[in-house]
Amino acid sequence: MLISEQSILTGLASLAEKIAERSYAPYSGAACGCIVLLSDGAWVPGVRVENASFPLLIPAAMNAVTTAVAAGRGDIVAAATNTSFGGADQDYLAAFLPDARFDGNIANIARSSRAIPPIGHRLNPLIHDGSRNGIDLMGLARSAADRAHVPESNFPVGCILEVANGGLIPGCNVEHADWNLTLCAERNAIGTAITYGLTDWQGLHVSCIKDSTGSPCGACRQVLVEHASNMPLVMDRGSDPPEIRTAADLLPAYFAGASLRKRR
Ligand code: THU
Repeated sequence: MLISEQSILTGLASLAEKIAERSYAPYSGAACGCIVLLSDGAWVPGVRVENASFPLLIPAAMNAVTTAVAAGRGDIVAAATNTSFGGADQDYLAAFLPDARFDGNIANIARSSRAIPPIGHRLNPLIHDGSRNGIDLMGLARSAADRAHVPESNFPVGCILEVANGGLIPGCNVEHADWNLTLCAERNAIGTAITYGLTDWQGLHVSCIKDSTGSPCGACRQVLVEHASNMPLVMDRGSDPPEIRTAADLLPAYFAGASLRKRR
């Protein structure tokens, strides 16, 4: 590896260290961040997002990769974390980094065989910022589904999370050969919002474009109730008007984890 490439990767790891502070980790207290580097030097952060239902954890590497995919940027050339890439992270990243290499001595870095560009700007995940007057949010949710990575299901899902000041965050489902490592569109957008510190949410439009009866799965409902139990969830009903519900009414008697140990 060229010395300069090594210093770029070290720079990515220090960005990961900084972004880790944004982790949502009330149960473990573990601050984990990951940065993925794209072929033109743009970089995309992701943080660890825990849930009272522990199996619904969004690991930092998955959060970063899925943000990149929702932005139409699958051209990932390297990744770095402030902790270390465990076996599941390596399996995950191997699917998105061509010829992924994990250096045995540097467990916090993964790279592809492609050239490593100098670190450029942080990717802006917002597809819109400003007045939402006249904006077709469901149309944007359907368009977000165009970026879904769905080799397993061929069932694209898209969503748009409305945040403060007119910001719109897209999400799409990102699948993996290990289905446990698949992330739904809704949780993709949520992970992006938490990573970027955009935590004032006003609504979520969701479109399962091939199913006009589709609604957020149980796992997404569980994550939504933890952060935004009464936020409007606007579900695409095709040529009919959308159906509007909330996570709290879609998931009655949900597990809130009130007695779980908290470390932060
Ligand atoms: N999926 C979503 O993205 N959101 C939902 O609410 C329903 C399910 C995705 C996950 C997986 O990629 C595919 O649809 C089939 O489960």
